[in-house]
Amino acid sequence: MDLMERLRRDHDDMVPPYAERFTGYAGCDYIESGLGLLQVLVSYAGLQAGSIMLDIGSGIGRLAVPLTKLITPPGSYDGLEIVERGVRWCSTKITPGYPHFRFTHADIFNAEYNPGGTVKAAEYVLPYDDASFDVVCLFSVFTHMLTADVERYVTEISRVLRPGGRLAATFIIINDETTKSMQAENGIYNFTYQEGPQWLFEEGMSCPELAVGYEEKYVRDLYASNGLDVSGLYLGQWSGQPATSATEPHGQDLVVGIRR
Ligand SMILES: C[S@@+](CC[C@H](N)C(=O)[O-])C[C@H]1O[C@@H](n2cnc3c(N)ncnc32)[C@H](O)[C@@H]1O
Repeated sequence: MDLMERLRRDHDDMVPPYAERFTGYAGCDYIESGLGLLQVLVSYAGLQAGSIMLDIGSGIGRLAVPLTKLITPPGSYDGLEIVERGVRWCSTKITPGYPHFRFTHADIFNAEYNPGGTVKAAEYVLPYDDASFDVVCLFSVFTHMLTADVERYVTEISRVLRPGGRLAATFIIINDETTKSMQAENGIYNFTYQEGPQWLFEEGMSCPELAVGYEEKYVRDLYASNGLDVSGLYLGQWSGQPATSATEPHGQDLVVGIRR
């Protein structure tokens, strides 16, 4: 695909080559899917041109690139990512034209994305000041993190959100409805092994972070105990639910919390 684009000379420099894209599914339209995520944040997290936002798990800039057309100073965007080449691509291609877009690398271990990482997510301190963001988002990140890591991140996110600020995060929510759908094989995943509040595909996986589901009550309690009032929980297509504007661009379950 990269060769075809080079031959046609129609490569957009703000779109990473196919070979560099370590996130998203095959055939995913980088720009269209990023615009979809942007729209979710505008509609469900109150994102505006002047927002100060943090994108945790910023990947290869799928959300950041379309956001350059929305966020203008004094608004700003910070991306945090554990895959160094993602941060390198974004810092090289995005930051020079948009200095209010910054990207930070954290060498955090994740069996799926950064198996050589030296820092534990469960002990990580986000490198940002208290109450410094209006919006924090995580698209398809908690779906690849284990319980202790998610707990630490939600506590840290609560710390860096200003009162009234919003957290928009996607999860794979396990509740009666999604369990019924899974059992009827209406969805794309089937989680069979429960370990505390987390659900994995099966027992004894060498890479449990491949996909992780969480019980709905656990997620609601986690938000509440970290000063986040859940303003909406929207079930997505992964389990066979119909697409809505909150879930269509990512297919997962969206949980929005407002910092008390
Ligand atoms: C499925 S990808 C989604 C990337 C991006 N949010 C998007 O929607 O294009 C999951 C991302 O989360 C990142 N990630 C995994 N664990 C993380 C952690 N503890 N902190 C920050 N990012 C993490 C991965 O490196 C990867 O880029």
